[in-house]
Amino acid sequence: MKKFIVGNFKMNTTLHDFAKYLDCFLPLVKECKNFVALSIPYTHMMLASQKLVSTNVVFGSQNISTEEKGAFTGEISNLMVKDLGAYFTLVGHSEIRKKFRETNEQINQKIMRALSVNLKCVLCVGETKTERNANKTKMVLKKQLEIALKGLYENELKNIIIAYEPVWAIGTGKTPTTKDIEETVDHIRQIIMDMFSQKSADKILVIYGGSVNQNNSSNILKIKNINGLLVGGACLNPVEFANIIK
Ligand code: PGA
Repeated sequence: MKKFIVGNFKMNTTLHDFAKYLDCFLPLVKECKNFVALSIPYTHMMLASQKLVSTNVVFGSQNISTEEKGAFTGEISNLMVKDLGAYFTLVGHSEIRKKFRETNEQINQKIMRALSVNLKCVLCVGETKTERNANKTKMVLKKQLEIALKGLYENELKNIIIAYEPVWAIGTGKTPTTKDIEETVDHIRQIIMDMFSQKSADKILVIYGGSVNQNNSSNILKIKNINGLLVGGACLNPVEFANIIK
């Protein structure tokens, strides 16, 4: 089955850097069968919409507003990114949860906004080190998922990809063991089963993120209940990211 590999640029690269990146990256992944997605800064979307036409790579945003339009200075709406050709948006990334105090309820609103204009969502969930040490991982994930997915119809889950990203693994070079990831992803699927159905729990795409690189990616992709990867730092090097995808 095709793997879903997402690169998260975060707040990196100028438009000029990004153009050079694509010139190097696109030929490297041209023949690749996996599904490739780039989560890029808003300022790069117009260029992406031109350069990614007729390629096997899609792009998306890293966030959208909870609001539709109006007096929300500094915000970007669902329709604005959709209009530029975005295929998806990230929602609930831990950096936004933490630095901008984004709540699970706001994440739910953003998901609703995204789905209303046919944008897919990569919904990030994960526990902090303190929560993990206190044995609260399962509880935290349950709360994050139950609130974020509240009010969704079951058939809308096809537009949701869950990214399990332990916060303590992001940008730290640390990763959980493959056994840990497998157990936690089983738990995530269990939550989806309790909220929706066994069929949805089996079908929903769950990817892993947090210090993925070209040395550990193939082992993580071998975990049987994992459908792909969310790659931060390592996606900024087009050669390394292409190696991960391949
Ligand atoms: P990282 O980031 O790969 O640099 O750990 C992942 C992410 O934040 O999505």
